Amino acid sequence: MSFDLLGTGSCLPARCVKNDELTQLFDTSDEWIRMRTGIEERHIITDEQVAGLAIAAAKAALRNSGTSAEELDYILCPTLGGDYITPSLACMVQQGLGAKCPAMDMNAACSGFVYACDIADGLFARGRAKRVLVVAADGLSRILDWNDRSTSVLFGDGAAAVVLGEGDGLKYLAVGSAPSLALNLPFLNGNCPYTAKKDRQTVLQMDGREVYRFAVDALSSGVASALEATGYAKEEVRFVVPHQANLRIIEAAAKRLRMPMEQFACNIQKNGNISAVSIPLVLDEFMNQGRLHKGDILVFSAFGAGMTAGTAVLQW
Ligand code: ACO
Repeated sequence: MSFDLLGTGSCLPARCVKNDELTQLFDTSDEWIRMRTGIEERHIITDEQVAGLAIAAAKAALRNSGTSAEELDYILCPTLGGDYITPSLACMVQQGLGAKCPAMDMNAACSGFVYACDIADGLFARGRAKRVLVVAADGLSRILDWNDRSTSVLFGDGAAAVVLGEGDGLKYLAVGSAPSLALNLPFLNGNCPYTAKKDRQTVLQMDGREVYRFAVDALSSGVASALEATGYAKEEVRFVVPHQANLRIIEAAAKRLRMPMEQFACNIQKNGNISAVSIPLVLDEFMNQGRLHKGDILVFSAFGAGMTAGTAVLQW
């Protein structure tokens, strides 16, 4: 027994920041950001809490799947972190929903949604769960260096959720990792008097070119392996839903796979990169737009800091 996708939901912060506004912060341009990344705007937290966004996304997914909070057997939150290191974001979502089930956060960076699907699959396989809520949420604006134009233009904030139920919709899932510091965020310095070195920058740091190369390889080889393992022809895939990091990464992978860009579901233009949120956010948007139909074959393919990667094939 694996799982079916029962419903989706999402919630974004109210404040939308367009590329042009960023020119007030540092030397950049709407043209540079669009040409290099495809991003036009992103939503940024002002006074919202990450947990508030996550709870709103979760409530929408419960409503859309006809599931009550009492029916949930597990809550998984792929995230870099909620509003506290502890309690976990998942426990705050549990409280916000009034659910009684176990709840935990997991960090596989931008691959977190696919990793959470892997954990959920295990829960269904051993009869541990009939309904699992996966809520991805991040406030990446909090961890960026807003003096660094090469990273702060790329990311956004938000939350997206899915409810999974017993079924045989999941056809394939593979995850992997290849350790690297190409994208890293050091832990808090703290004020321990015995600690020798306290001068680390606790902001996101990135080797853009190395991440770019890893991402194109991970996305194209992940989708190719998934198609080979399941026997689906490229034409049978309704959409590849890739992690939304950079439109150029997606275009390069599409070219390598010899698949048309029309088969790649994208919304990075309006949201930037929201880490593990990006795949369920595209799913929710495409559901709401009526672009997905029962029986569609979907390929989720993610890559992220760690480095981590994961691909799943799901028949809706
Ligand atoms: N505006 C204007 N100029 C900029 C900006 C900006 N926002 N950012 C960088 N530049 C400049 C650089 O300073 C550099 O100037 P120089 O030539 O005078 O030194 C020039 O643009 C070119 O910089 P590159 O880093 O070589 O630009 P590149 O074409 O590689 O694009 C980018 C940079 C967009 C970051 C690209 O490397 C990339 O997308 N990498 C993938 C990173 C990524 O997606 N990370 C987040 C996702 S990670 C994840 O989700 C797993």
